[in-house]
Amino acid sequence: ASTLGAAAAQSGRYFGTAIAAGRLGDSNYTTIANREFNMVTPENEMKPDATEPNRGQFNFSAGDRVYNWAVQNGKRVRGHTLAWHGQQPPWMQSLSGSSLRQAMIDHINGVMAHYKGKLYAWDVVNEAFADGSSGGRRDSNLQRTGNDWIEVAFRTARAADPSVKLCYNDYNIENWTWAKTQGVYNMVKDFKSRGVPIDCVGFQSHFNSGSAYNSNFRTTLQNFAALGVDVQITELDIQGASATTYAAVTNDCLAVPRCNGITVWGVRDQDSWRSGDTPLLFSGNNKKPAYDAVLNALNSA
Ligand code: G3I
Repeated sequence: ASTLGAAAAQSGRYFGTAIAAGRLGDSNYTTIANREFNMVTPENEMKPDATEPNRGQFNFSAGDRVYNWAVQNGKRVRGHTLAWHGQQPPWMQSLSGSSLRQAMIDHINGVMAHYKGKLYAWDVVNEAFADGSSGGRRDSNLQRTGNDWIEVAFRTARAADPSVKLCYNDYNIENWTWAKTQGVYNMVKDFKSRGVPIDCVGFQSHFNSGSAYNSNFRTTLQNFAALGVDVQITELDIQGASATTYAAVTNDCLAVPRCNGITVWGVRDQDSWRSGDTPLLFSGNNKKPAYDAVLNALNSA
């Protein structure tokens, strides 16, 4: 196959990208995005500050722009994200305790009602674990509402839309030897053993050049899948876009039956949040060597 999406589809997988509503007027951008990708994650438009700017007043205009572009072009959509310490609207940042807990529940219900039955997956909870050696939770206003906030978010989400996959999404959980990876693994294991609804784990995969990517990523994907969840690579970008590393990550997903697909975090280098890192598969209108490496890996599966 000659595009990333079609090549991934040969093994029943998808190949996606983050899409920014503000770039949908750029025809060079939309031409590449439409041709190459068959899964879309709104880069910012379904985050809490975008969807609930005032408490109880939901705004889906930007989220719907991305959603409608995707669906009109035959793509599926991953919702990102419902409960997160980042990109909270100011009113939410100022809450704590039981009022914040209730606001989180209301937010999940309000946003999921709007997109009910329409999405491939939701990143229900994003980035709840700490970096470093603790393996524990990240401190945040949500964490301070009580350690059960994550499971409450997932139970709320399941009730709000039983048809969508419910995912936990994080970064720096790709390396099996890292404490953060083990912390998330133990949470998923605990959720599965107690019947807390969780369907998938998203591995953001923001890699630096050099040592950040480790070939034990495949082990990590296999071990999580063995707990009975799907796994997805959700925000892939690699500083410098080494073709070898891009191929290795692609092959890691292809080696794991429950790895459903790969999403890169933007279309062209100029669209990336990592300005100066040239971490994506396109530069301007041009395919980079990493693009060919990924396409070849997908076609060899
Ligand atoms: O929309 C405002 C605009 O009105 C304002 O004029 C401008 C001035 O700074 O800011 C605009 O908001 C920016 C927003 O992107 C939209 O462009 C924010 O400042 C900026 O912080 C925000 O960055 C996003 C970042 O998340 C913030 O958390 C990036 O685009 C987005 O790629 C990035 O994505 C995250 C994932 O959600 C979670 N995993 C990590 C990943 C990379 O950081």
